[in-house]
Amino acid sequence: MGSIEQTLVLIKPDGVSDGKIGQVIKRFEDKGLQLQGMKMIWLDEALATKHYQQHQGKKFFERLISYITAAPVVALVLAGESAIKVVRNLVGTTNPAKAKPGTIRGDLAISLEHGNIIHASDSRETAAKEIELFFASEEIFTY
Ligand code: TYD
Repeated sequence: MGSIEQTLVLIKPDGVSDGKIGQVIKRFEDKGLQLQGMKMIWLDEALATKHYQQHQGKKFFERLISYITAAPVVALVLAGESAIKVVRNLVGTTNPAKAKPGTIRGDLAISLEHGNIIHASDSRETAAKEIELFFASEEIFTY
């Protein structure tokens, strides 16, 4: 049995602009994950660069920063048993064209070029860092 984890999700600018917020949150609620934090935030270049630090220098980095700062995002803290892996499985693979039907990217996004609508932390270490980057401790509710 896995332990209870927290993970960070961003519904990216294309997900927000295309009206996918409700559908995405519903999938997490239906799965049984607990929503512990939620806010809308418009990333500036500094925050976007911090969030995607590990990709700095890669050929897609500049496009990634303009994409993630183009409109607001919805940031979520989700909690549950093995939440990091569970959420990544629900999200699907990076390229929506290859993501399996049934996953969020597989069902709600068409190609990397158009955006993959969602971000989810990929490890305990990045989850802790990313939650801290987007939320103050008093903005996270355990209940
Ligand atoms: P990555 O952390 O590898 O993927 P994921 O979001 O599935 O954890 O990459 C971060 C984002 O960078 C990804 O969601 C989309 C973008 N990206 C590209 O635009 N081109 C690429 O070749 C890769 C690997 C990522």
